[in-house]
Amino acid sequence: MKRLTAAGGLAGADQAAGGPFQAKMPSQPVDWYDFPHYFDLAFRDETKAEVRFLVAAFEKYCQGPVRRLLEPGCGSGRLVTALADRGYEMIGIDQNSIALAYLQKRLTRRGLAARLIHGTMASFRLPRGVDAAFCTFNTFRHLLTEDAARSHLQCVADHLREGGIYVLGLHLLPPDASEEACERWSAGQGATRLSVTLRVLATDRRKRLERLRMSLLVRTPKRLRRLRSEFLLRIYTARHFRSLLTTVPSLELCDVFDFWYEIDRPRQLTDEMSDTVLILRKRKPAGESRGLVVTR
Ligand SMILES: C[S@@+](CC[C@H](N)C(=O)[O-])C[C@H]1O[C@@H](n2cnc3c(N)ncnc32)[C@H](O)[C@@H]1O
Repeated sequence: MKRLTAAGGLAGADQAAGGPFQAKMPSQPVDWYDFPHYFDLAFRDETKAEVRFLVAAFEKYCQGPVRRLLEPGCGSGRLVTALADRGYEMIGIDQNSIALAYLQKRLTRRGLAARLIHGTMASFRLPRGVDAAFCTFNTFRHLLTEDAARSHLQCVADHLREGGIYVLGLHLLPPDASEEACERWSAGQGATRLSVTLRVLATDRRKRLERLRMSLLVRTPKRLRRLRSEFLLRIYTARHFRSLLTTVPSLELCDVFDFWYEIDRPRQLTDEMSDTVLILRKRKPAGESRGLVVTR
């Protein structure tokens, strides 16, 4: 299980990747989302459990059948591809054209289809609504301001049908958590070996921003590459998230899980919570949800 952010008491490493990062080889500054095949490789072992959880969540929390799904920030499309393969009608949004081109090729190669939209998830308009949406792995935290986060939640809510759900996975930072952390793991496919180190470089609780560095060491029989990508994520405590949610009244919080993705083990959204998966549901209009019949 990877948390995709390290602050909040994650001292030490998940799985040691060995010592390659100590080698004195210069690293190339990049946007690591421009390397979707490496992103995919780094997270592919999470996909099965995530898909199983998402499908279980649709069954448990969505009112009515689920056919059309939206993933904002779909990136290389691990989840879009896996869910299209299960027969869902998929829509993915991402601002990275390299990741979307990679995903399109991948879908074509597998004889699958999805609607891919190049744009920002902060604000979007789809031609039709969806039954459910999901956004995991801290992607939501790429929205760095309260306005962008609120606008995103409102857009998702506007496109969800009543009773549809939004599964949102993000790492919360408990108020007293340690801000120093580092996570390492490795992955491989064929002759390619990837060592990943994710480190929190700086945390500014006042501005609610965290700077992270993702370092990749890629080894193939012909080449050794060292890449480095730095980016900001917005910080949330449970209280911050609850407060944001009150600004989008058409979404209600149904349940909360952690990154173990155990559908039968909901948790409580408290300030101690860090690895968090929220199930948000589009409310029915007030009268309807109480079974009231409005007469004129
Ligand atoms: C952590 S990756 C997650 C990719 C994919 N959801 C997955 O789990 O494999 C985050 C993705 O969000 C995209 N992203 C970040 N900010 C965005 C924005 N404002 N609008 C659209 N996409 C964004 C990045 O380009 C990247 O592909």
